[in-house]
Amino acid sequence: MRKNIVAGNWKMNNDLPQTEALIVDLLKQTQTSNAEVMIAPTYVNLYQAFDATRNSNIEVIAQNMHFAENGAYTGEISATMLKSVGVKTVILGHSERRAYFNETNESLAKKVDAALKNDLRIIFCFGEELSDRKSGNQEQVVENQIKSALFHLEASAFKNIVLAYEPVWAIGTGETASPEQAQDMHKFIRQTLQNKYGENTAQDVSILYGGSVKPANAKEIFSKPDVDGGLIGGASLKAEDFIAIVNAF
Ligand code: 13P
Repeated sequence: MRKNIVAGNWKMNNDLPQTEALIVDLLKQTQTSNAEVMIAPTYVNLYQAFDATRNSNIEVIAQNMHFAENGAYTGEISATMLKSVGVKTVILGHSERRAYFNETNESLAKKVDAALKNDLRIIFCFGEELSDRKSGNQEQVVENQIKSALFHLEASAFKNIVLAYEPVWAIGTGETASPEQAQDMHKFIRQTLQNKYGENTAQDVSILYGGSVKPANAKEIFSKPDVDGGLIGGASLKAEDFIAIVNAF
């Protein structure tokens, strides 16, 4: 079922006391909402965040994971480790992981398989660079990212997949895609899914937008028919701003 989702990607921000303080602030303000609310703290604070949000409407999710079940991968975290601290959803394919940690469409396909095998829901991120948009190749780039990491899956797998379109040129830059640019791309993404998996699957998948979403622009972006929510970076670090974005629904 297609759902509205607002997820905060905290990236490499907030130590343990800051994590606990931000959650206290969020809990004061998010009693009810028309969207699923998620936060993605750093790995080392996942359990404390999970514990602090028990019985609330905030889901604690992870920012990444390795594709192997376990073994000699120093510094890495597996799906079973995430599950053991209460995590049910993992972000995969963020452009920062692709750019700084050499994640490729091929390695992401393996992570996707490992997450699904372990019954984790995935927020799968992709998006074009500024140069792609300038040369008019944004749809081709996005289509390739989606196809190479996801199109080996059965349609039924998409029950556990949320897509997040994050144009790289809009992340942390203050420059947002216009609501029309977001809608055009989300419609293209849904059509790409429909061509492969049929209308029911395409209509059921939630597609989030990410890239400089703020309280001031959230409502207009979320009002677009193919935009089902947002993946929020900078603005998710301030309770007031994040809640205002959640309440844009
Ligand atoms: P900003 O909201 O800071 O642009 O970051 C978006 C993002 O990368 C979320 O994953």
